Amino acid sequence: MAVKAYTIAVLPGDGIGPEVIAQAEHVLRAVAERFEIRLGLEQHPMGGAGVRASGDPFPAATRDAVTRADAVLLGAVGDPSLDAAPRRLKPETGLLALRAHLAVYANLRPVAVHPALAHRSPLKPDRLTAVDLMIVRELTGGLYYGEPRGRDGTRAVNTLTYSEAEIVRVARVAFELARQRRGHVTSVDKANVLEVSQLWRETVTRLSAEYPDVQLEHLYVDTAAMRLVAEPRAFDVLLTENLFGDILSDEAAVLAGSLGLLPSASLGAGPGLFEPVHGSAPTLAGRDVANPLGAIASVALLLRHGLGLPAAADAVDDAIATALSAGARTEDLAGPGEAVLGTREMGALIADLVENAESGAPREVARAVPKGVA
Ligand code: IPM
Ligand code: MN
Repeated sequence: MAVKAYTIAVLPGDGIGPEVIAQAEHVLRAVAERFEIRLGLEQHPMGGAGVRASGDPFPAATRDAVTRADAVLLGAVGDPSLDAAPRRLKPETGLLALRAHLAVYANLRPVAVHPALAHRSPLKPDRLTAVDLMIVRELTGGLYYGEPRGRDGTRAVNTLTYSEAEIVRVARVAFELARQRRGHVTSVDKANVLEVSQLWRETVTRLSAEYPDVQLEHLYVDTAAMRLVAEPRAFDVLLTENLFGDILSDEAAVLAGSLGLLPSASLGAGPGLFEPVHGSAPTLAGRDVANPLGAIASVALLLRHGLGLPAAADAVDDAIATALSAGARTEDLAGPGEAVLGTREMGALIADLVENAESGAPREVARAVPKGVA
């Protein structure tokens, strides 16, 4: 039988991006080995690296490559040396162009609290037990893309606009996910003030008639921000627009204990885009201290939602959970006196766990965790 081959466009990007992506690739190779999948990994410049390679944060060759790929894996973009550059040369402009090009309108940001890390959050550990939520952020509309935009002397303009069609397609993703989870959607808006939010609320309510098995609740964004830290267990699927989702997903990262842990999947009709939620963290770059688990968990999302390989995705998620339970910690996760793994050691550990775990028979982890850590 012919083995199916997949092409993954890999965009390491800037700062810690290349370091965490090297470990994500390490894990992907382990997955390919264990599950006998053929993967072609092709690297292309993006963000500041794109500007340096060809004067464009989203170079034409990268655009062609992502269009042809089965899925896209991105590290991070952001480069302080381009802070004063014109808008068209900013790494973030390249990222927004990439999202728009792939038309990945649904951004999934799962946030779960691993029991061994509950004490790392500044919130009370008893609030965090069993927290498991999925943010569904609209990603290709709203204030990020609205026209007109611009500056004129002492005034600046951005425009918030959404169409009913844009709202329906992302809300459908939220309802479908809720069906596979705990059957609850919280839609977040500012309908007491904004016309766009009123349309959002009406549209989501109308669509919910197609999902009688899913319970729908609406919250204003200010209340949602408070509830997210006061009562995080109240959320299953949190559906919201682009800017509110950007803000609430960083807030939700506090629950998990570190932004470095969180993955994301951005889905549309074509190839999906998979990236850790963290940024390029220039001050950590080149020191082998960055946490690669957000990038590695993004590989799990890539396998699950991008390639439709749930068993391979589970193997990666299980390996991460096993490593954390065994006490494996990067610098951002370590408490006083705890041994710390470098970026490469953490990546090698997860790859080893993926390759060697017997399905159904959890492996003796102590062997895999370096001495002094378990
Ligand atoms: C994110 C980031 C981006 C965003 C930036 C880098 C443009 O913060 O993915 O959350 O705001 O969407
Ligand atoms: Mn953000």
